[in-house]
Amino acid sequence: MTVADPFPSGLFDRLDNKPDRFFYLQPRFVTHVDDVTIQALTTFYGERLFIGAEILDLMSSWVSHLPIEPSLTRVAGLGMNSVELAKNPRLDDHVVQDLNDDPVLPYVNDSFDFVLIALSIQYLVQPLEVFKEIARILRVGGQVIISTSHRCFPTKAIRAFREQNAKDRIQLIAEYIRRSNGFGVPELLDRSPKEADPLWLICGTRCA
Ligand SMILES: C[S@@+](CC[C@H](N)C(=O)[O-])C[C@H]1O[C@@H](n2cnc3c(N)ncnc32)[C@H](O)[C@@H]1O
Repeated sequence: MTVADPFPSGLFDRLDNKPDRFFYLQPRFVTHVDDVTIQALTTFYGERLFIGAEILDLMSSWVSHLPIEPSLTRVAGLGMNSVELAKNPRLDDHVVQDLNDDPVLPYVNDSFDFVLIALSIQYLVQPLEVFKEIARILRVGGQVIISTSHRCFPTKAIRAFREQNAKDRIQLIAEYIRRSNGFGVPELLDRSPKEADPLWLICGTRCA
């Protein structure tokens, strides 16, 4: 029996190969899924986060979808547009960095309890490098939480997210976690509200 290669050639190809800074030059003060789906994500965060946690909102913008409670010690943000990041009321600090150009995260080892990637994973062309970095900056027991749905900027999304079905896309994200060697078995959840954009969550817990 042959097992399908989860990373076949061309999987990370994009229609627009120009550096990402051009695409993200203008701020976009929009949301990327239905309000009720955002609320489902906020509710999920509320179940997972704990008082005093330090969080990195990776691939961040002007909103982080975080609940008011629990109160957090630090929310750092990394994204592509400085105007969006500066307007995000939840960020304590932020940095502009193109992860497709430089996947090395500008944070010291073991500095976060959670790394969140909301509705953005489809834009990473070197996900394994980024996930190794996520493992490095997460404390043991910390979690990476990836949320994904079915909308995207098609020219900037990798081929997998343009062509694969949702089940395969979720498995691909789980494979990013498995291959980065820093996490336990990925957890897959479907928290899709009825009659709204779906919400799939893929979580990995940093192991020793
Ligand atoms: C669809 S938006 C989602 C924004 C936000 N996380 C949310 O949930 O509304 C995609 C985000 O991914 C970020 N992004 C896209 N390509 C990136 C890259 N190469 N490096 C870092 N961030 C990137 C952009 O800054 C943008 O904010």
